[in-house]
Amino acid sequence: MTRGGAYVTVGTVGTAGSTLPHPAPLSGASYSAIELMPGDREVVLLDQRALPLDERYERLHHVEQVAVAIETLAVRGAPAIGIAAAYGLVLAAAGAPAGEPHFASEMAAAALRLHRTRPTAVNLSWALARMARVVTQVRSLAAPARVERLAAEARAIHSEDVAACRAMGRIGAERVPGDAVILTHCNAGALATGGFGTALGVVRASREAGKRVRVVACETRPVLQGARLTAWELARDGFDVTLITDSMVAQRMRRGGIDLVVVGADRIARSGDVANKIGTYGVACLARAHGVPFYVAAPFSTVDLACPDGDAIPIEQRSEHEVRTCGGVPIAPAGARVENPAFDVTPAGLIRSIFTERGEVTPPGEAGLMALERIDQEGGKTGRI
Ligand code: MRU
Repeated sequence: MTRGGAYVTVGTVGTAGSTLPHPAPLSGASYSAIELMPGDREVVLLDQRALPLDERYERLHHVEQVAVAIETLAVRGAPAIGIAAAYGLVLAAAGAPAGEPHFASEMAAAALRLHRTRPTAVNLSWALARMARVVTQVRSLAAPARVERLAAEARAIHSEDVAACRAMGRIGAERVPGDAVILTHCNAGALATGGFGTALGVVRASREAGKRVRVVACETRPVLQGARLTAWELARDGFDVTLITDSMVAQRMRRGGIDLVVVGADRIARSGDVANKIGTYGVACLARAHGVPFYVAAPFSTVDLACPDGDAIPIEQRSEHEVRTCGGVPIAPAGARVENPAFDVTPAGLIRSIFTERGEVTPPGEAGLMALERIDQEGGKTGRI
């Protein structure tokens, strides 16, 4: 265990450097959660455990390093986890034995290792399934051609996510008043995605549409994604952001002046129930109590139509250490028992609508999500379902 500023970093995932060693992030921004370097043999990620004190990029060359990065939250946020896993499989292919059946079995083992890292964000298994289809197609190719094809698919997953964030941002921005205060929980921004963000994509798109938007960010105990990441990202990009502790939401809403809530999602069940960072359900209850509209923004890759409802969503239980400490400092007696579910489920009935790149689902539920499932993204219509 090493210390990076005031924050405890559990293990290292690669070799660190302070600037993004890439001509330009795929999203076009000046920083990026994760990139596959030209040559397809190196992944670079912004170590989110070190933010906001240290903007440190890690260089990874092995799939195991990518798996550890996902487990330890060096890269986190549902879409970014999926992109990281896809890039992890490119590294696995680059290091895999050329001959069959070794290539296929090595790739299957790598996919299983990545799949076991975190259970709640369905974007992980979605991205792995998409890469697995390409693994099957490239088995008979020469080693360099295999890596090239897998890298192209992984970059497509990444760039499609950026496009999805921009599209859902524009759709969500239509619900944002011209002068708005938006409350958000956790980090559902550029850092959690291929770039631009889901909930923060709505914030960005609103500004691009000429609206005045101010953001209230919940700090998001226990790991403080709101304080460390959302506040960092918004301040860096010139937004007006106010940080509050999670326990201040009720009073802040009672006082008035919160126009809407927008959060991201880790898995959306067929019923429209939404798993997101622990604390989201409480914010949704408070929004209902105070008449504040509560929205979810997520790419369609976060929708799991095979999952009937929120009760069927696997909820990750994380280490006690995250609750027993704050900023690396112990805050609880050793004898106290601790619980640490990383996510909760917000029932569909508390959600005004879900913004996706394919359209807005109002009210969230099976009929609307199934209608979006049928939309062909290439030529199909998008809009309100
Ligand atoms: O544990 P984390 O930091 O991976 O949790 C992230 C969240 O809950 C985000 O709100 C969610 O993934 C949406 S990301 C666009």
